[in-house]
Amino acid sequence: MLREATNNAYIYSILQGCGGYYLANEYSVTPWEVKGKVDYMRLAREFGVQLITENEINTIRELTGEVHYLIRRGFFYAHRDLVPILSRQRSGLKWALYDGRGPSADLHIGHLVPWMLSKWFVDKFNVDYFFELTDDEKFLVKEGYTLEQTNKYAYENALDLIALGFTPDKLHIIIDSEDIKYLYKIAVRVGKKLTLSTVKHTFGFTDSTNVGAAFFPTLEISVAFLPTELYGEQVPVLIPTAIDQDPYFRLARDIADELGYPKPSTIYSKFIPGLTGEDKMSASNPDSAIYVTDSERDVRRKIMNALTGGQPTVELQRKYGGDPDNCVVYKYHLLFQDSDEKVRDIYENCRAGKLLCGECKIMLFERIREFMKEHNERRERAKDAIQQYRISVKFR
Ligand code: TYM
Repeated sequence: MLREATNNAYIYSILQGCGGYYLANEYSVTPWEVKGKVDYMRLAREFGVQLITENEINTIRELTGEVHYLIRRGFFYAHRDLVPILSRQRSGLKWALYDGRGPSADLHIGHLVPWMLSKWFVDKFNVDYFFELTDDEKFLVKEGYTLEQTNKYAYENALDLIALGFTPDKLHIIIDSEDIKYLYKIAVRVGKKLTLSTVKHTFGFTDSTNVGAAFFPTLEISVAFLPTELYGEQVPVLIPTAIDQDPYFRLARDIADELGYPKPSTIYSKFIPGLTGEDKMSASNPDSAIYVTDSERDVRRKIMNALTGGQPTVELQRKYGGDPDNCVVYKYHLLFQDSDEKVRDIYENCRAGKLLCGECKIMLFERIREFMKEHNERRERAKDAIQQYRISVKFR
């Protein structure tokens, strides 16, 4: 039964009178757009996902000897059925990771963050990683793209993924428009289980939505079931993503049993905020996001203009200290600096008025510059290797 999906669609339609994800008009989270100030705890409740607790954190530590800082610091904060995946790992049973990207030119460093956690999972748990590039979705859902363009961006974005250090034996890239034979049979079975009304309510589609967009969710769901087909045994997936993708996987979980597939598990992050204060770093305000293609000069300018929790003058900052808990720059330090000691120093020195916002921004710029320099070097090297990562090379 479509229990999780229909319950939630019902709640949203009461609040908003339509099928989208507006929550009492304060903020909205859909797979395509985030508006307003997100209350993450409330969103987790409304979506019906569990919060990550000490329990899961301790289990991860037991299994790997450490816990990735993105989980430790609460950036990844919620999940669906993470525990059964960890139990499989403990028992030596197979599972796989699954992620994806709607390819476009505007890949920002926020997109890299869930993939950094995936890299850690692959290394620590030695699992296969399936990655879907939805050139079809981007073409169907966004105005102004040809399919040829989104397909070209799929290759460009694949380079950024590979640059994070994955090896071809573990990372399997699916480009929807080219690798559809791996998904189509699963997708039609999925499609038969989902009514138009469910899809409309879950994604906020209307009668004027094109039917391609209405069919697309079957493909994002299909990859969650693909490892089971490929390996010929029950292989559940764990999906590390920002929480905006939950609608797909809620539907996937609702129909999995009926189709004889294991329910996918998920681990959800919050959004990386925009540098200018928006809750989600987004392409609609180019100054709010750092793109992987930005020049050093642009990165510096964007960081130097970022919103901080600092005092209006140097004197006041020295006297009263800043407010790192409400500072975008500090949040970026938390996301891109793995040393707990360095992060603690920034926090304490800011509060004590010893660190000025300008100095703190320069430190962030240096860190991001170093990150992007390494990234771009590895991205360049990935160009010759991309074919080795394609699913078609490994699973025939
Ligand atoms: P897309 O391209 O919108 O986003 C790709 C991934 O990046 C995450 N993300 C963010 N994470 C943190 N902070 C942000 N500001 C931010 N912006 C985006 C998204 O949650 C996502 O994980 N339909 C999908 C493609 C897809 C997919 C999947 C994503 C296909 N299969 C499986 C996740 C898991 C899309 O267009 O993602």
